[in-house]
Amino acid sequence: MPAIAVIGGQWGDEGKGKVVDLLAERADVVVRFSGGDNAGHTVINEFGKFALHLVPSGIFSPTTDCIIGNGVVINPEALLEELKMLKDRGVDTSRLYISDRAHLIMPYHIIFDAAEENLRGDKAIGTTKKGIGPVFADKIARLGIRVGDVVERRNFMEQLRNVLHQKNLLLTKVFGAQPLSLTRIYEGYVEFGRQMKPFVRDTTVMLEKALNEGKVVLLEGAQGTMLDPDFGTYPYATSSSPIAGGACVGAGISPRRITGILGVFKAYCTRVGGGPFPTELKDDIGNHIRERAHEYGTTTGRPRRCGWFDGVAARFSNRVNGYTGMALTRFDILDTLDSIKVCTAYKAGSKTIHDFPASLATLERCEPVYEEFPGWKQDTCGVRKLEDLPETARNYVKRLEELVGCPANLICVGPERTQTIVKSAVF
Ligand code: GDP
Ligand code: IMO
Ligand code: MG
Repeated sequence: MPAIAVIGGQWGDEGKGKVVDLLAERADVVVRFSGGDNAGHTVINEFGKFALHLVPSGIFSPTTDCIIGNGVVINPEALLEELKMLKDRGVDTSRLYISDRAHLIMPYHIIFDAAEENLRGDKAIGTTKKGIGPVFADKIARLGIRVGDVVERRNFMEQLRNVLHQKNLLLTKVFGAQPLSLTRIYEGYVEFGRQMKPFVRDTTVMLEKALNEGKVVLLEGAQGTMLDPDFGTYPYATSSSPIAGGACVGAGISPRRITGILGVFKAYCTRVGGGPFPTELKDDIGNHIRERAHEYGTTTGRPRRCGWFDGVAARFSNRVNGYTGMALTRFDILDTLDSIKVCTAYKAGSKTIHDFPASLATLERCEPVYEEFPGWKQDTCGVRKLEDLPETARNYVKRLEELVGCPANLICVGPERTQTIVKSAVF
């Protein structure tokens, strides 16, 4: 009964989509368990190149069931658009299932996300403006509307009327905006409910059955550990838990079911949006990495901030996730560099810091302490076996394994499914 979680080890965009697409060839079920369409997972395979936002990256495997779990927030319009895009490009979406417990992003969530960002001024989080913060706030405040509500429609009108009353007061009295129309939202979401109905299930029942039958279930993370609302660089974080613990809650399975936790790490670091990033490179090397790797957001197109691998953050990431192994991605991006640095500790004034600090003020004072490695200056895109990597590259992998504290299972040397070195099996 193996359930394997695939978790973003850094600040998101580590290449989870590629890794899940690769592993899904041997998985029976893939479940997205957190986030919403703030995620952008790139998959390149025989069907072409895709940017997935809500549909699990296992959708290309013809024998794999895909589940959008209860922990995901769904913008129905975005989901239907994504399904249409996949169908138009020849991908079978008939094995997709949606949890009846997943919360829906409503039009007011998107308006409030933008308005709140505006109010933050130069302290803006740099959200994706998809309504993520406001929809999770409503979920916890018990004001949310769930997939089951618009599919069953027993109480939907009354529920929406009550919530919209509050939201329209805020819109008109606080933000000086126009109120939203109850009828228009109601009708739009009833239509979404009608279109989503064939996919909707109690997905916990499906997962229990699959796990009892010994099937392989992948839990596909979105975002990354350093964006977690508890452990990330709060408040520069997202609003649902992208870590292994969040996988159980967001999929509806017991922690006892998880047998493997694969951390996905870039061989360097990126971050998109505001917030502390101790190893950020604001120089030519940072620009070189951004251009060579085309580090621009899959969801928003924003340039990603680039920096050296942060061993302090990575060790912390392992502490809160308990990785059984990792996938190192974007390894080939370092091929051209003369030398490569890795952060092993921070210095704040005269203090050396080994544990990732909670305090933003401390983080902002942290200067990375680096170890330097010679570059291998060799194209690794075509390498498929560990022993064919240059020795300097193998030493780099070894050092990252020591720093993170777990073995690398996979080393990715290109964006395509096949551009992967399997150092040891994930399952
Ligand atoms: P995700 O959000 O974690 O799924 O990652 P994104 O898809 O947002 O960003 C990762 C980017 O890296 C995508 O453009 C992938 O195609 C690309 N990618 C993944 N692995 C590799 C790799 O090993 N080498 C290179 N060059 N690109 C990779
Ligand atoms: P994937 O799954 C990278 C970042 C945003 C912002 C912060 C809060 O592709 O790795 P939000 O819209 O969630 O309220 O924004 O989180 N962010 C991501 N950064 N990859 C992602 O997803 C992200 N999802 C959110 O840029 O800094
Ligand atoms: Mg992404």
